[in-house]
Amino acid sequence: MINKIMRIGTETRRNHGRVQTYIPGFDGLVQGGLKEKSINLLLGGAGTGKTIFAIQFLVNGIINNNETGIYITFEEKKEKLFSDMIGMGWDLARYEKEGKFIFMEYNPEQVKKMLIEGGGTVESMISKSNVKRMVIDSITSFALLYKDELTRKEAALSLFDLINSWGCTAILTAQQISKGEEIFSTTLEFEVDSIIVLYNARQKGTRKRAFEILKMRGTKHPLTTMGMDITHVGIELKPSKIVEF
Ligand SMILES: Nc1ncnc2c1ncn2[C@@H]1O[C@H](COP(=O)(O)OP(=O)(O)OP(=O)(O)O)[C@@H](O)[C@H]1O
Ligand SMILES: [Mg+2]
Repeated sequence: MINKIMRIGTETRRNHGRVQTYIPGFDGLVQGGLKEKSINLLLGGAGTGKTIFAIQFLVNGIINNNETGIYITFEEKKEKLFSDMIGMGWDLARYEKEGKFIFMEYNPEQVKKMLIEGGGTVESMISKSNVKRMVIDSITSFALLYKDELTRKEAALSLFDLINSWGCTAILTAQQISKGEEIFSTTLEFEVDSIIVLYNARQKGTRKRAFEILKMRGTKHPLTTMGMDITHVGIELKPSKIVEF
């Protein structure tokens, strides 16, 4: 009995202030999930699974918690994304009709305007629909709008402040070409709450998927590069499989 109470106590504490991604294998590695209202950077090269990971986070919020998610993109076309995600069994059109999934195509200039004016359409959408989960896919072209590192950092910080004021837990994707290569922004990497990196690296004539948690503030997490699969049901992480490149 005491054991059971202690276990429930630990469980409650473990998930306190955490937003479960419900991505198989992930939450257990990071004390129950992403930190509530945190800004999480999902880095990776082309085809590493950034969009699938981010959409899975939103869809799982809808399915498991009945939480509305917003997906802001500069690059993805709605019809293409919706049809790609059908391949994972995720009916985004249905969730959109139910008001649980919000798709917003924004160009970087519009985001810049939003930062100057503060919120606008996105903000009213978020408060009206009580949005809890947010994805920006990807932040790279937005970052490229700003020529020098300092203005880029300032713009990113005001974007992060805005997201924080909305009370959302956010995943921002960004392109990284290969391991160790910094395409995004070195200073920004210091500003986000967590960095998750996805890999699809070649090894002996075949590509291997892997991921690592580079940092997560206030969280004990593994320092290893671990296995990952993409199947017809989405991303599945394999934390027990250590990957060496
Ligand atoms: N049904 C499926 N089963 C297995 N793997 C799949 C399936 N559908 C897509 N994939 C894999 O997922 C990859 C695409 O993932 P995703 O679009 O999330 O990558 P990304 O990192 O967002 O890429 P980009 O940088 O081009 O936006 C495909 O290239 C393919 O390897
Ligand atoms: Mg993508």
